[in-house]
Amino acid sequence: MTRSATAGPAGLVANRQLPVAGLLVGIGVCGLISVPVSRSGPDSPAAGGVRFGLTMDDWLARRLDRLYAEGQAHDARQADRLSRRRNLEPTSASLLAQLVRVAAARAIVEIGTSNGYSTIWLADAAAAVGGQVVSVDNASTDLAQRNLAETGLADVVNLVVADGGDYLAQAPSASIDFLFLDAERTAYLGWWPEVQRVLRPGGLLVIDNALAPDPAELTDLLAAILATDRWTSDTVPIGKGLFLAWKASRDGTRDPGGPVRATEDVGAPRSAS
Ligand SMILES: C[S@@+](CC[C@H](N)C(=O)[O-])C[C@H]1O[C@@H](n2cnc3c(N)ncnc32)[C@H](O)[C@@H]1O
Repeated sequence: MTRSATAGPAGLVANRQLPVAGLLVGIGVCGLISVPVSRSGPDSPAAGGVRFGLTMDDWLARRLDRLYAEGQAHDARQADRLSRRRNLEPTSASLLAQLVRVAAARAIVEIGTSNGYSTIWLADAAAAVGGQVVSVDNASTDLAQRNLAETGLADVVNLVVADGGDYLAQAPSASIDFLFLDAERTAYLGWWPEVQRVLRPGGLLVIDNALAPDPAELTDLLAAILATDRWTSDTVPIGKGLFLAWKASRDGTRDPGGPVRATEDVGAPRSAS
């Protein structure tokens, strides 16, 4: 089985970069569904929109555009990096959501909520496949909660205020179908043992910032993933680089049990805001 990863400056392994369209065609995207939800924001809802060539409610696409623009404007005023929203690039967010749909992921966990921008993308995709999102941040999730409430997707998401490593440590084994890491990259290597434990066989790990701003921050983690049996990985050169790692089951196939069905198995929130 081919394994590859983003090399840091030291060049771990040649990076096999996949065109996104090829990736999606390769895993058989042939039709998308969207689930109508009730919107409470200032714009009038309009169904049936298309965003980045993918199905998305027009109203939600506009709201996400506005949220991203607000985040960019906010970040431009913040000298302190940690005070910024640091939202995922829209193209990366779109692919992230598409992967949730393709994988029919039910138990989705995001570490790094910020203002809820990527959370909303994940929630929209989760709603389409009957999934639930737990989004974890060690800072306040109040802003994310307000933004989510406006989209009508709040029921799809549990916002948890906790350290990402602590959250993973208390999550049941093999309980997560789809894990997105978008917090502080330097912490991920320490989380890796728990990541392996909590992701179910057949589950997908996605990590942002594989290519920028500093790929060296992920070099050791990617080396650890590459050295781990049953994990297959690639970097998609989109946005700041999305690293995808798939955990195969012991016989190298999809877990016969398929996606976790009981979303409550993701683990109860420690505290919700
Ligand atoms: C890059 S931002 C997340 C952006 C968000 N995913 C988006 O695209 O809208 C990083 C977030 O991770 C949170 N964070 C940093 N370290 C964390 C940790 N150890 N556990 C949980 N959250 C953490 C920060 O508070 C911040 O809100």
